[in-house]
Amino acid sequence: MTASPARHARAASELTARYRAVRAHSAKLAGPLSDADATVQSMPDASPAKWHLAHTTWFFETMVLKPNVSGYRVFDDRFNYLFNSYYETIGARHPRPKRGMITRPALDEIMAFRAHVDAAMEQLIASDPERSVAELIELGCHHEQQHQELLLTDILHLFSQSPIKPAYRDPEPLAIAEDPGEAGYVAFEGGIVEIGHDGEGFAFDCEGPRHKALVHPFRLADRLVTNREWIAFMEAGGYRDPLLWLAEGWGQILAERWEAPLYWENRDGAWWTMTLRGMQPVDLNAPVTQVSYFEADAYATWAGKRLPTESEWELASAGLPQTGTFADGGRLRPKPATLGEKGLRQMFGDVWEWTRSPFTPYPGFKAAEGAVGEYNGKFMCGQFVLRGGSCATPDEHIRATYRNFFPPHTRWQFSGLRLAEDA
Ligand SMILES: [Fe+2]
Repeated sequence: MTASPARHARAASELTARYRAVRAHSAKLAGPLSDADATVQSMPDASPAKWHLAHTTWFFETMVLKPNVSGYRVFDDRFNYLFNSYYETIGARHPRPKRGMITRPALDEIMAFRAHVDAAMEQLIASDPERSVAELIELGCHHEQQHQELLLTDILHLFSQSPIKPAYRDPEPLAIAEDPGEAGYVAFEGGIVEIGHDGEGFAFDCEGPRHKALVHPFRLADRLVTNREWIAFMEAGGYRDPLLWLAEGWGQILAERWEAPLYWENRDGAWWTMTLRGMQPVDLNAPVTQVSYFEADAYATWAGKRLPTESEWELASAGLPQTGTFADGGRLRPKPATLGEKGLRQMFGDVWEWTRSPFTPYPGFKAAEGAVGEYNGKFMCGQFVLRGGSCATPDEHIRATYRNFFPPHTRWQFSGLRLAEDA
């Protein structure tokens, strides 16, 4: 049975609105950046903002327009080499650590590339493409939202390297909130539970299939670990005691001389941190952020607790409203938990929560056919899952089943932790 013309028209107009909103948001994020800000690469893991703006556009051109629009004119033949990220199926590409060498095309040429692709995309969407194409467009929108978060975290890393510590925006200090008080623990019985995306609505392939998981009884902290608690860990010698650390993590802190979260700096006895609002005093009541899995795990060991598994986190989050401090509110820093609020706080937003679960395929997982099959599946080795989204995640870009993943040494994302324990 085919859908009615009116329904098709509605689907096309919804997809047009969605596409436009996502694309406009990327341009807005680039608004405060100069061409130089958008070109420099601060480390191999981070990409220039200009690259993010171009790569997300390349995704639509390559995955959607070239295979589905006859007569589509590629904006520039050289861009496939420059802006392919990691798709072996699509061919050779510029080495990731050298993305900062792409001084040309300039930012305004990238914006022209975006406009060229947007015009063709809007025509395609208006023509009511078949379902598989509409699904690819939806994937492209979610892909771009992932890069919107990376654009912010990569700019923060870049600006943190500058001696003048520029603010991406709004350098005025935020109001200091009250102490959220001691963390409480919420008990869960566990059992054989269902985990993963059920296929209704959009999800990345790695979030499914929904499957059974065995969860032992556990307790989960009702808020995130705060900067005040993190300082207690530091002052107790947390970064100097090898017994608290995984061997690989201990090697890492010795090699890199870690003694505080990534952007912290001690100024006359007070801790300051680099933020998207420039250098700011560390808010003792706010969740700690920019810590690696290794640090999160060492902290949990010191506290006599552990990190939750992703099944525990997902079970605990079931039925909770998916609201919190995300990027659209513009705070761009994690927010202290509200004192006296009952139940689990800060499950969504603020900081991505490290889990102790490695990023591996769920039972029954199969990567998609073709190039998009390279999206997640090939990264299922050597990384840990983070849950819940952060203050840099677009509001619409989160689900209880969402599995973010990073290697255990990485700490330039808004990554923090919540404690758990066996019941
Ligand atoms: Fe990408």
